[in-house]
Order: sequence, then structure tokens, then C-alpha cells
Amino acid sequence: MSEEVKPESVSLYSVSAAATPEQEAVCIFGTGDLGRSLGQRLLQSGYRLVYGSRRPHSCGPIPPGAQVMSHEIAARSASLVFVCVHREHYDFLETLAPHLKGKVLVDVSNNLKKNMYPEANAEFLQRLIPGAHVVKAFNTLSAWALQNGPSDANRQVYLCGNSPEAKQAVAEIATKLGFNVQDRGSLSAARELEDFPLQLFPEWRLPMRLTIGLTAFFFFYLLARDVIFAYVDQGKDNSFRIMVSLANKVFPIVSLILLSLCYLPGVIAAFLQLYRGTKYKRFPDWLDRWMLCRKQLGLIALALASLHVLYTLIIPIRYYVRFRLAANTISQIKENKTSVFDTTMGWRTDSYYSMGVLGFGLYLLLGIASLPSVSNALSWREFSFIQSKLGYLTLFFCTFHTYLYGWDKFLFISSFKWYTPPGYMLCLVVPSVVLLLKLLLLLPCVDKSLTRIRQGWERTDPEDDSKKSLLAKDCQKL
Ligand SMILES: Cc1cc2nc3c(=O)[nH]c(=O)nc-3n(C[C@H](O)[C@H](O)[C@H](O)COP(=O)(O)OP(=O)(O)OC[C@H]3O[C@@H](n4cnc5c(N)ncnc54)[C@H](O)[C@@H]3O)c2cc1C
Ligand SMILES: NC(=O)c1ccc[n+]([C@@H]2O[C@H](COP(=O)([O-])OP(=O)(O)OC[C@H]3O[C@@H](n4cnc5c(N)ncnc54)[C@H](OP(=O)(O)O)[C@@H]3O)[C@@H](O)[C@H]2O)c1
Ligand code: HEM
Repeated sequence: MSEEVKPESVSLYSVSAAATPEQEAVCIFGTGDLGRSLGQRLLQSGYRLVYGSRRPHSCGPIPPGAQVMSHEIAARSASLVFVCVHREHYDFLETLAPHLKGKVLVDVSNNLKKNMYPEANAEFLQRLIPGAHVVKAFNTLSAWALQNGPSDANRQVYLCGNSPEAKQAVAEIATKLGFNVQDRGSLSAARELEDFPLQLFPEWRLPMRLTIGLTAFFFFYLLARDVIFAYVDQGKDNSFRIMVSLANKVFPIVSLILLSLCYLPGVIAAFLQLYRGTKYKRFPDWLDRWMLCRKQLGLIALALASLHVLYTLIIPIRYYVRFRLAANTISQIKENKTSVFDTTMGWRTDSYYSMGVLGFGLYLLLGIASLPSVSNALSWREFSFIQSKLGYLTLFFCTFHTYLYGWDKFLFISSFKWYTPPGYMLCLVVPSVVLLLKLLLLLPCVDKSLTRIRQGWERTDPEDDSKKSLLAKDCQKL
């Protein structure tokens, strides 16, 4: 059963043939959701449509202009059949095998989970009807998308199959329906296509988990320090701080850590290359995976930094801030006191704001450069300049912003509530390490070696060399 059977005859449509699309008949098995939506689009594109149904006289609503027949008669009236039936019901097709011989069968089916069956649905269909040309296609679209026409997110139709002519016939239909077609090769790629709709942001999974973990950790850490400590130590209810103050600490802290995690793998990779003396050895899997999710890490970091900026903008209109300002002014008036302008404080606040603004500006630039429409217009060198060089500058500005914000607070024992350091101090560890390591890599002697290695130079082990020459001598003797 499993052996591949080559059909004897091939009768395929060709748009270039004399028949016009208006005259072409296409068959759909199944009058369910996908069958109906696909049928509607096919009719709109000028195809003649026949449905094959178990109940031709009592099936559900079908698009006006289509005919419904028994599977057998419908199969005979077209040479391309869309099988819009769930895989579990494919058995009925076996009895139709003689009528489907030489026809193109389009398998649109999906499964509920990965590896539900030992073979892909399309391969199973090919095994059931060996005389037909099975093409896997349209399974990544939803019935909804088909009904509403292709939108940006759903413009792609992936297909695969063993017969180039059959794939061509399906590709022509997909193109007429307004989709872009991507050929993924032979029918053995069907399982990969069937897994596509089951994927949910796979490359975002690790960065999202990391973000949720860090956010939860810093939220509870700062809750304990800023709210619970005040309640336990002074009986003060600071719980209102959760909404703005705490959020405006957690988001920038996590953002800065994620930003530094975009650049840490590059530094680790560079040291690994220096240690190994070659760029031709594969990085460990964990480093590869980390490098591959840097874009997602960066974009989440940018989103969190944007939240920090928005929260910062509302600080002056907060009730708590306005109350504190008014109370301070009134008490100064009452006590007939004036405060002296502190130039150092002026420098400090302006400097950390300025660093924050510069850092955020570059952050936005990195985000814009990562848009496919922009990155496609950049050369590799330009993209790498923005992402790598300006990226490090972004990290530097944001780190410096946080250092200036902290200023001399680390000197005061009151900053270490319950002997714990403030959140911003904790978040400075990773970026500081990354910047320090990068600085080491920029030292002329290190940079020279790294550049040579990246240009293809390899360090040879003197012991290896002597072994090689001994081996060569042995070989000569033999
Ligand atoms: C908002 C935002 C958006 C981002 N968008 C993207 C994005 O769209 N795409 C993306 O990839 N990242 C993106 N990032 C992540 C980050 O900016 C990039 O990955 C950046 O290129 C990392 O720079 P790097 O110098 O650490 O790493 P790389 O420039 O990748 O260098 C890292 C390592 O790669 C190897 N390497 C580099 N050049 C060579 C060479 N010529 N020969 C051999 N080996 C070499 C070396 O081992 C080197 O140490 C984004 C970050 C942010 C904050
Ligand atoms: N819905 C989507 O958005 C979508 C997207 C991509 C892929 N798909 C795939 O498309 C296929 C159809 O999905 P659907 O959503 O249209 O399902 P559906 O609404 O349940 O329709 C399936 C149709 O199959 C026919 N059928 C049911 N039991 C049968 C049996 N025992 N023997 C023969 N025919 C039978 C019925 O048509 P008749 O009563 O006319 O015989 C039924 O209307 C599935 O393989 C699904 O994985 C669906
Ligand atoms: C328009 C740009 C920015 C402005 C105006 C700004 C302003 C501020 C202000 C006012 C604070 C103090 C908040 C408080 O008192 O609770 C602060 C803290 C902080 N900012 Fe920014 N910032 C900017 C951009 C950034 C960026 C891009 C980052 C990088 C991720 C960042 C990281 C931090 C960090 C880590 C803190 C310390 C949080 C804490 O523990 O209190 N900032 N910033």
C-alpha cells in the first residue's frame, strides 16, 4: 500500500489552454465551512463550481451559482477536486478511486495537534488514491480569510506535491484568487505545512517567558520593598504606588535587562571565537537559540521602554505628586523659608533625562530598522551598523541614564530596605557586565585577533602541527 504509484494518465488544467477560466469546472468535496468559503471565492473568480456531498439534496447552504451532486458525479465533472473534509472521514474516498484516477486532489486538511497520525494527511490521501495527484495547499488559510479575501496577514498559500503539473494547476487557481504562492517541494513537506497552523509565535515563546518571569520577580521584589516594608516598618499605606510608581520601575528595569540580553550573546560568541581561535566551529545550541531570538527580545524591550516613557509623562499630573508639591510650598510659606537652587541636582536630573531621551530615540531607531520594509531597503552593512554599533550606544545611554538616576543613593543605608538593594541597582548588573566585556573586545590587541578570526584566519595548535608532521612522516615511510 505504501509504495509510490505513478499514475498512468495525467489530465490537468492549464490556464494557458484554450479553455477560459469562466468555463473551468472545479469540484469541492464537502459543503462545510471551508468548502463554502472556498466555493464562494472560486465562483467570484469565474470558475464553474460543483460540490460533492453525502446529502446532495439536504446539505447546508451553498453559494448561489454552484451545483451540488453526489461525490461520484461531481468527481466526474471536474479534474481538480478540493477535499474539504476532515481526515477522519477520508475512507469514503477509497470507493471513488476509479473516478479520481489522474485527477488533482487538493488536500486542505489540518489536525488538532502535532504528530496526531504517523503520516501526513496528504500522504495518507495519496496512499488511499494512488492514481490521483495529491497536492497539499490552502490549509494555512482560515475559512474566514477565504471569505473576506486575502489580507496582509494571510496572503500566502503554501503548497507541496509530487507532480509539478498538478502543483502548477493549484498555483494558478491560488493566484487567481489573489494569493501569493510558495512552493515547498514534494509531498514529504506536507507534515511541515500541516504543522504551520498549530504554531503560535514560536520564536516569541522564550523572550515572552523571560519577560513574564522578570516582570513577576521585580514586581514582587519592589512590592516588598516599596509597599510592604513601609506598612510593616512605619504602618504607612503606600499601596496606591502599585499602579504608577511600581509599574514605572518594573517596566524600565525589565526593559534594560532585556536590552542587555540582546547584546550579551554577541559578546559571549566573540569570546568563544577568541578562545577557540576559529569562527568555523558551531556555537553551542543554547547560544544559537539565544542569538535567534534577539529581535524579539529587542522589540519587547522597546515596548516596555515606551511604557516607561508614557508613565513618566503622566508624573506631573498625578494626584500624589501635585499634593506633595502643594504641601511642600504651603509648609515653606508657613515657615517663611525658601529653598536654594541646587546646581548639582540640576545637572544630575537634566543629565539623566537627556540620557533617557537619547537612549529612547536610538531605541526607536532600532525598532524602525527592524521593520521588514526598512531592513529590506538597507544593505547588510547598514543594518549591522544600526543594530550593532548604534545598539551598543543605546545600551550605553540607557545604562548611564540609570546610573545617573541612582547617583549616590547606594551610599545611604536607608536605600537597602530589609538589606535588599533597590531594583535599579539589580538591573544595572547585566548591562554593566555587557558594556565592560564589549570594552575589552574593543582593546586594539583583542579587536585585531577577533577581526582576523572573523576574516577566516584559524589558530593552529603547535601540538597538532607536530602530530600532523609525524603522521606525514609515517605515511611517507609506508
Ligand atoms: C528595538 C530592537 C530591534 C531589534 N531588531 C532586530 C532585528 O530586526 N534583527 C536582529 O537580528 N536583531 C535585532 N535586534 C537585536 C540586536 O540589535 C541585534 O541582534 C544586534 O545585531 C546585536 O549586535 P551584536 O554586535 O551583539 O551581534 P552581531 O552583530 O550579530 O555579532 C554577534 C556575533 O556574531 C558573529 N559575527 C558577527 N559578524 C561576523 C562576521 N562577519 N563573521 C563571523 N562571525 C560574525 C560574532 O561571533 C559576533 O560576536 C533588535 C534590538 C532592539 C533593541
Ligand atoms: N474551517 C477552517 O477555517 C479550515 C481552515 C483550514 C483547513 N481546514 C480543513 O478543511 C477541512 C474541512 O473543514 P471545515 O471547517 O469545512 O469542516 P466542517 O465545517 O465540519 O465541514 C466538513 C464537511 O465534510 C463533510 N463530511 C462530514 N462528515 C463526512 C463523512 N463522514 N464522510 C464524507 N464527508 C463528510 C460534510 O459535507 P457534506 O455534508 O456536504 O458531505 C461537512 O460539511 C478539514 O480538513 C479542516 O482541517 C479548515
Ligand atoms: C524619554 C526618555 C526617558 C525619560 C524622560 C525617562 C525618565 C525617567 C525618570 C523620571 C525616572 C525616575 C522614575 C521614578 O522616579 O520612579 C527614570 C528611571 C529609570 N529609567 Fe528612564 N527615562 C527615559 C528613558 C529610559 C529608557 C529608554 C530606559 C531603558 C530601558 C530607561 C530606564 C530607566 C530605569 C532602569 C530607571 C530606574 C527605575 C527605578 O528603579 O526607579 N529610561 N527614567
